[in-house]
Amino acid sequence: MVEELLRFLDLRPGGRYLDLTLGGGGHARKILERAPTASLVGVDRDASTLAATAAELAGFGERFTALHAPYDRADEAAAAAGVAGFDGAFQGALLDLGISSLQLDDAERGLSFERDGSLDMRMDRSVGETAAELLGRVSERELADLLFRFGDETRSRAIARALVERRRHAPVRRTLELADLVERAVGGRRGSRIHPATRTFQALRMAVNDEIGGLERVLAKVASWLAPDGRLAVLSFHSGEDRIVKRSLRAAAAAGEFELLTRKPIEPGAVEVEANPRARSAKLRAARRLAAGAVGDERRDQRRDNG
Ligand SMILES: C[S@@+](CC[C@H](N)C(=O)[O-])C[C@H]1O[C@@H](n2cnc3c(N)ncnc32)[C@H](O)[C@@H]1O
Repeated sequence: MVEELLRFLDLRPGGRYLDLTLGGGGHARKILERAPTASLVGVDRDASTLAATAAELAGFGERFTALHAPYDRADEAAAAAGVAGFDGAFQGALLDLGISSLQLDDAERGLSFERDGSLDMRMDRSVGETAAELLGRVSERELADLLFRFGDETRSRAIARALVERRRHAPVRRTLELADLVERAVGGRRGSRIHPATRTFQALRMAVNDEIGGLERVLAKVASWLAPDGRLAVLSFHSGEDRIVKRSLRAAAAAGEFELLTRKPIEPGAVEVEANPRARSAKLRAARRLAAGAVGDERRDQRRDNG
């Protein structure tokens, strides 16, 4: 899907690009290589990922700028860091949602049900509540709702019941403890293709990092960061995320801010899924910023100024 994504971004020499989910820098590097005089601002809320990737992209010199921020506050972080040219400045912005393999492979981040680690799950480890803390605090009902809403987990009630029962004796602090508890709560693997704890881990990660809230907020702002004719490409891996992207882009299109470049999401082919299992549920949507939207913004600003 990388090629499709780059095609939608319609890279131009000298363009300014915004990678709101820098991660390991795979997309950022391709953009900087294919548009030789372009510059790119790379955002990630995970400070250690950002530092490692910034070091790898250091060879691009001033063409690359790293910004530590949750993507929905990238504008504020840019202003605080003195990064010039943010609002209305970008020819392209991209969001590649979820976590990177760097994060998944680091057992101590607590994101993998296959590796023993503390149940942290925060992408930015300097703020917020860990998954272990969340599991110790929420009610059985809240937990079941969360697992169903963010993980599409149909056995959410059984899992929530088992967790609440277990924490009466001892808190769940480790990833493998949680994976084991979920497996027992749902009655083993039953020949399922995915591990029974997959959905529980995904749901907890999304809750701990407020991923749905962050996505709604960034989608409400990103048009104002793009120049007229600027492109937006969003790659999601979860039906709940794709629904939000679809609704938000449709609303922005109805308001004249965006032209939709994808009516239906682009999905990976069988060959790609075979080579990269993470691509299994990937959906790509893209849009083009309309100049008319910019006029709409000006009108709104004037109205605000006029009280
Ligand atoms: C799937 S990875 C991106 C991989 C990247 N496109 C590449 O080619 O290597 C998602 C990245 O987005 C970051 N991320 C997730 N939610 C974020 C948020 N709300 N704000 C900023 N970064 C976020 C994660 O820390 C992770 O590094």
